[in-house]
Amino acid sequence: MNVTRRAPLLAPSFLAADLANLQAETERLATSAADWLHFDVMDGRFVPNISFGLPVLQAVARYAKQPIDVHLMIEEPQHYLAAFRDAGASSITVHYEACPHLHRVVQQIKQLGCRAGVALNPATPVSLLEDIAADLDVVLVMSVNPGFGGQAFIPNTLKKVAMLKDLLLDTGSDALIEVDGGVNMGNAGPLVEAGADVLVAGNFVFSAPEGPVATLAALRAHLAALETDSLAGSRRQ
Ligand code: DX5
Ligand code: ZN
Repeated sequence: MNVTRRAPLLAPSFLAADLANLQAETERLATSAADWLHFDVMDGRFVPNISFGLPVLQAVARYAKQPIDVHLMIEEPQHYLAAFRDAGASSITVHYEACPHLHRVVQQIKQLGCRAGVALNPATPVSLLEDIAADLDVVLVMSVNPGFGGQAFIPNTLKKVAMLKDLLLDTGSDALIEVDGGVNMGNAGPLVEAGADVLVAGNFVFSAPEGPVATLAALRAHLAALETDSLAGSRRQ
């Protein structure tokens, strides 16, 4: 089969950056292979941790060259959508589990001119998105339980991404599939093969001794090599 695939987008997560040097971190990512900058907001209620919020996003946005992908791990996100857009968000992703009126929230995000995303916790099935999929720009599949960086990737995510890919095709949705949590050099290829379009990576990128710029370049090269191999393989068949 001849499937044209977009090259996967890379989205380093600020949660793992040096938070005492956000200007420098944002400036060095500006020169990197990052396509989006992932910004994790936690409220201590939806998830058992508190990270950072609007003033920090505003500060990062002053130096950011790439679109900022805001992941709201908060209850009642509908109250803060305009504020996050004004602070610099290009995409806003809310959690399925936090939004009883998800359709309304998604429309509100789109009316603000942002890309609208919905995130699913590891125990939330993709089938629950059937009636909203066509309205979405992004579906974020959590590959760890949200709340903390540096956790181990949950292997069932690969099956889940493949099922989501089928659901998006069936519903005529062109939403991007984003995977978040425990992404590294070992699982990035299989994730893209399963259908992932955007890979979020925190600790893998920022804790590497080579630093984030070299690590993102290596990840990009690794994925390009896999793509070349799979194209060569399909030509041989
Ligand atoms: C987890 C966050 C992730 C986190 C990923 O709740 O949503 O974006 O920063 O970090 P790693 O890649 O270290 O799992
Ligand atoms: Zn995230």
